[in-house]
This record gives sequence, C-alpha cells and structure tokens, in this order.
Amino acid sequence: MVLVLRPKQNPFTKNAAASKHPKYYLYIILSTLKNSFSYLCHPKPALEMQDLKEKIDLTRLPRHIAIIMDGNGRWAKEKGEDRLFGHFHGVESVRNIAEGCAELGVEYLTLYAFSTENWNRPKNEVNGLMALLVDTIHKEVETLNKNNIRLHVIGDMDMLPHFACEELNEALEMTSRNTGLNLVMALSYSSRWELVNAVRNIGVDVKDGKIDPETITHETVEKYLCTSNLPDPELMIRTSGEYRISNFLLYQLAYAELYFTATRWPDFRKDNLYEAILDFQGRERRFGKISEQLQAG
Ligand code: FPP
Repeated sequence: MVLVLRPKQNPFTKNAAASKHPKYYLYIILSTLKNSFSYLCHPKPALEMQDLKEKIDLTRLPRHIAIIMDGNGRWAKEKGEDRLFGHFHGVESVRNIAEGCAELGVEYLTLYAFSTENWNRPKNEVNGLMALLVDTIHKEVETLNKNNIRLHVIGDMDMLPHFACEELNEALEMTSRNTGLNLVMALSYSSRWELVNAVRNIGVDVKDGKIDPETITHETVEKYLCTSNLPDPELMIRTSGEYRISNFLLYQLAYAELYFTATRWPDFRKDNLYEAILDFQGRERRFGKISEQLQAG
C-alpha cells in the first residue's frame, strides 16, 4: 500500500461545487464544535472581562465573600491526572481571586481550604495538601505584603502538623500590619466543631461566674466564634456544581446570598468572580422584611 502525504488544507474551499458536498456540512459542524469547545477552554478575552468589571457597582460590593473551592479532584480526574494535580492548579485560582478581590476593594475573602472532615481523605492526599499549603504560604508571603493583604486563619490549628503551624504563624505575623484585603484561610475548620467549641467555652465562663446565662444574646455567641473579628459574609460562592454548604460558616451565612456555579475551582478566574458579584448586586436583600419597607428606606 502506498501512502501519499499531501499538505494539510481545507478540501472544501477550492470550488463552489465542493460547498454542496455532504462532507462540507460535517466539516462546518465539526469546526463549530471545535471552536465552541476551545472558547469554553480558554479564558474570556480581556475586553469582555473589563466589560464585566465595569458593570460592578463599587459602592455596593459585598464586604465579605466566602468561597467553597470545590472540584479540584474532578478537574484533575477529567484530565487523567492525580487529585493533587487539581489542588496544585487550585492555588493559581486562589492567587487570581485574591488579586481580583483586592483590586475591587472587597474587604474580606474567606476560603475553605481544608475542612475537619478532609482529615479522613487518603493519607497521601492529606500530606500533599499540607505540603502544598506550607509551600504556597512560604512563597506567597512577599506577594501578600506587596499587595497589602493580611492573612488570617480560622480552624482547629492544634490538628495541623507542627511544620504547618510554624509556617502559618510566621505568615500571620509578617502580614499583620497590612491594611488592605483580609484573606481568611479556613483550615481544619468546620462549623460544628466551631459551635461545639463556642458552647463549651460559654459553659466554662458561666461556671466561672463571668457570664450570667440570662444575659446571653447572639452578640455573646458571636464573640465565642472563630470569626469574632470578622463581619458576616454577604456572598457565598461554591464552585463545581454542588448545592451544599458542607459545614462551612453555618452561623455566619444566615443572611448571605448563595451563588453556585458549575465551574471547577481550578478554572475559576476573575471573570467568574465578577459574574458572581453582578448576580449578588441584582438581588434584593430583605433580611426578613418586605420589598415596600426596603423601598421606603
Ligand atoms: C475541594 O476540592 C478542595 C479542597 C479540599 C482543597 C482546596 C485546596 C486548594 C485550592 C489548594 C490549596 C490552597 C491553599 C490555600 C494554598 P475536592 O478535592 O473536594 O474536589 P472534588 O469534589 O472534585 O473531589
């Protein structure tokens, strides 16, 4: 058999007759699909991203955005890679979104980086995540300082390996004088752990006579949460198409607007953030009141 190699060309543009060939239609359908696919895979053009950004009303930004960064494992699996590959790429999204929030003037960004339940994952994934966390924090402290970003951590730090605690404490101290975006990492965190802890500590203070149970209000409870120095999130984003809160800031999200997107976390970029904020700004936040009451001021 003789194989004749010819230069690659579109066989259907040579003459008008060819455009009537049934294969022509197949060619068009396939190239349309290919283009749509490549549009989905590549970031939106800068102009479109700028358009989205300009639509945001900077006087009505959510003060605090909380994110459940979901879908790293599935993203990696879809590419035939190990789950850790997804977490590794998730760090790029963390960078991009922190930068996006800082540029806009969002005051607080809380990221669910590792839940109490995540300790039950396979050992190699847990170890890989801890190593990635320490490595990322170590490398990013300089950038955080350059961008005036202050790092905070909420969660059960006692559960973290010693080397991770040391690195974190150093980064907390090194960024403690920054006055721009507050970047809060939820690490070894879960709401139930936090609430049990709060109730236990309130109980101790009641027993020691420091609190009269009759005087306990929601402000008292808030003082015992890990987030006592943070405002409640106004917008909560979860990526990767799951519609759950997964033990994340259950008390603090009482009046947050919830935004769910199918985009996997490693693909989540500033334009996705702008879309979420625009969606938030299109909602009427009634806090239990009715529309007419809000309009009357
Ligand atoms: C959820 O995806 C993601 C995590 C449990 C970890 C998030 C960690 C990062 C984004 C990287 C490290 C972060 C920092 C702050 C340095 P999943 O693994 O549950 O994905 P799946 O639902 O598709 O399995």
